[in-house]
Amino acid sequence: MSRPRRRGRSRIATSSSFPADDYLRAVVATPGLTALRDIDRAREILWEDGVRAVPLVERFEGPLVDVGSGGGSPGVPLSVSLPARDVTLLDAERRKCDFLRTWAPPNARVVWGRAEEQPVESFAVAVAKALAQPPVAVEWCLPLVRVGGAAILWLGESADLDAVAAVAEKLGGGAPEDHDGLVLIPKIAPTPEGFPRRPGVAKRRPLA
Ligand SMILES: C[S@@+](CC[C@H](N)C(=O)[O-])C[C@H]1O[C@@H](n2cnc3c(N)ncnc32)[C@H](O)[C@@H]1O
Repeated sequence: MSRPRRRGRSRIATSSSFPADDYLRAVVATPGLTALRDIDRAREILWEDGVRAVPLVERFEGPLVDVGSGGGSPGVPLSVSLPARDVTLLDAERRKCDFLRTWAPPNARVVWGRAEEQPVESFAVAVAKALAQPPVAVEWCLPLVRVGGAAILWLGESADLDAVAAVAEKLGGGAPEDHDGLVLIPKIAPTPEGFPRRPGVAKRRPLA
């Protein structure tokens, strides 16, 4: 599939040639990727909210994975904002991965698969937005992160941080830091024996 040609100037200012507004129009126009139908809202929710994490990601050197990338948020805006960073856009649905391959920036690769089945401790940073309930999202993301790295999750300001902390502790995670609804969990110890649990188990029997 070839990338559609860029029409006009992007309204998102980036130092890259990535056609951000064309990408967002494609996300909005493709069935099943987002409930958003308005390009201005898509810019706000899928792009600007994603790049909020740039200063947090920059605290850690090394590859980043966007778990449950869907239409590419926050992985695509982070790839464009951090062009020297190796980024993996991971999603369990093949159709979404086909879309992501059309739009992945040069420093991003697309992997079709489930978080629970990926090699553990392969990334410095795992990010996830709207992936699952917080305890499940933590359980899917933290094993992918090596010691010294972090998971950064878009959980919102009403998230139960005690539950997040309880799950993190079981998975080698430290105390969560809340940055206006962006929750950073440092990986301070190796993933314990028995994790990740088999696909489906985290949802059926959440750790908190
Ligand atoms: C609600 S969408 C969110 C997409 C995107 N992050 C966003 O904010 O627009 C959740 C995505 O997670 C993917 N997903 C669900 N469970 C997964 C798993 N275990 N491993 C990888 N991806 C998963 C789904 O296929 C879906 O694309």
